[in-house]
Amino acid sequence: MTPDPGTRRILIVGATSAIATEVARAYAAAGAGLFLTGRNPERLAAVADDLTVRGAAGVETAVLDVLAIEGHAALVERAFAPGRLDAAVIAHGTLPDQAGCQESAAETIRALEVNFTSTAALLTLLANRFEAQRRGTIAVITSVAGDRGRQSNYVYGAAKGGLAVFLQGLRNRLHHAGVSVVTLKPGFVDTPMTAVVPKNLLFSSARRAGRSIHRAIEARKDVAYIPWFWRPIMALITSLPESVFKRLRL
Ligand SMILES: NC(=O)c1ccc[n+]([C@@H]2O[C@H](COP(=O)([O-])OP(=O)(O)OC[C@H]3O[C@@H](n4cnc5c(N)ncnc54)[C@H](OP(=O)(O)O)[C@@H]3O)[C@@H](O)[C@H]2O)c1
Repeated sequence: MTPDPGTRRILIVGATSAIATEVARAYAAAGAGLFLTGRNPERLAAVADDLTVRGAAGVETAVLDVLAIEGHAALVERAFAPGRLDAAVIAHGTLPDQAGCQESAAETIRALEVNFTSTAALLTLLANRFEAQRRGTIAVITSVAGDRGRQSNYVYGAAKGGLAVFLQGLRNRLHHAGVSVVTLKPGFVDTPMTAVVPKNLLFSSARRAGRSIHRAIEARKDVAYIPWFWRPIMALITSLPESVFKRLRL
């Protein structure tokens, strides 16, 4: 894809995610050019077709399993190949089975690799390219689960919390190069990832979450809770002293 100089070029990693697809739709409606990666070629092609119909200036795709770290460099080269990348959105993730992780170190490591290590590896390459370009935005979907460890999902929470700290440092570094780093913290979102989780009033639709994420990226926010009401909820949860929190069954 060789976009005209006025067309914004956006990379979305994990583009077949329900939330990422909605973010991509918002960019397509604004006439951006999209470069999508995902590990399932058929689903990736379906998302690309949908975005083309919705007005994207062009849609390019690449199959990438993020655990194949050796494929990251070629992907980043391709993303910047037309000479400019305006934003990179990283969305892939899995919700590990906490009980399974407690039984198996291998399962714990795999959960950390998908939700932290692969993203940190990709960010290392992307950050250097954006820093050299001296403009652009890096946006990563973490989770409110990273704000406080809970017995029911602390492996996932550790990965997302670690990612949030990584992004904090990256933001501090890249600010001096004119590059924005946006940390996105959704609460519960109704997607395939949470299909088995009983729904409650705090759940948002993927559409609402995707639009809210698009707005946060465009506003170059540092940290955005998705939707906004998770900020006061997490402020309350993180304010509880550890001596009280450890007694709760959360
Ligand atoms: N849903 C929520 O309540 C919630 C809350 C907070 C944060 N989040 C975060 O939001 C992001 C998007 O999740 P979602 O809710 O939209 O779930 P989703 O629809 O299940 O999407 C997850 C995506 O991650 C991709 N993925 C998983 N492992 C991968 C790998 N090794 N290589 C490449 N892609 C891989 C999946 O690809 P396949 O289609 O090939 O499986 C899928 O596209 C995730 O980072 C998640 O942690 C979600």
